[in-house]
Amino acid sequence: MIEESCNIDDRGSSCCSQQPQKEEINFKDHWDKAYTNSPEEKLGWYETDLSPTLSLVSKAGLKKSARILNVGAGNTTLIDELLAIGYSDLIATDLSEVALNKLENRVGERKVECIVDDLTKPNSLYKISPVDLWIDRAVLHFFTEKKDQDVYFNLLKSSVKINGFVLLSEFNLNGAKVCSGLPVHRYSKDMIANKLGADFELIDSFNHTYIMPSGDERPYVYTLFKKRVSCLL
Ligand SMILES: C[S@@+](CC[C@H](N)C(=O)[O-])C[C@H]1O[C@@H](n2cnc3c(N)ncnc32)[C@H](O)[C@@H]1O
Repeated sequence: MIEESCNIDDRGSSCCSQQPQKEEINFKDHWDKAYTNSPEEKLGWYETDLSPTLSLVSKAGLKKSARILNVGAGNTTLIDELLAIGYSDLIATDLSEVALNKLENRVGERKVECIVDDLTKPNSLYKISPVDLWIDRAVLHFFTEKKDQDVYFNLLKSSVKINGFVLLSEFNLNGAKVCSGLPVHRYSKDMIANKLGADFELIDSFNHTYIMPSGDERPYVYTLFKKRVSCLL
């Protein structure tokens, strides 16, 4: 049973029945409103069980001093969990300043570096020093145009250190076609591997069905890759 929206506050609105015209959407406003208008725990991506992500973080086996970048972090409690485990060099980035303000207010501004930026038109993100782990849950699948996907993957490839890791969890091929009123591009592990290219070795992957606060199911694919020395070197 797959419904077409992943924000329960969208139910009954036009997002469930028809795909929005992308040209009309101001994405920053869209996401700022989502975080302003709904309690955190009612958002269609809110997690209480972070074990799928944390199992892959553990598999990467990084030192606690590792530099970890969570893209499209929103107000995720993954940051709280990573801090609790002992990671201290954390960066959270998102298009939504509202979301990052909430995150910073909860965990403390000295505990996480927050960067407001657009993954499809990055500015500040090009200037950060390379990271040991790039984490994305439920962000890449919103980039439905190849040009936006290309910008995203080019940024990722230049941001992750050699021997660093990439943890991507996106709607899988059985997943919903729309989330939060926006169309999504669904992935298999092979599709993600293809986008990453030969320099990234698949370490692990699995499907996981996320249960939304509404009780609806959202099937995801979780993947962990390791960046090897470039084949071109
Ligand atoms: C479904 S939410 C997932 C949030 C978080 N990763 C989590 O798992 O709780 C998608 C997030 O992607 C962010 N986002 C959407 N488009 C973006 C873009 N172009 N650049 C950066 N962040 C974006 C949204 O603001 C939102 O926080």
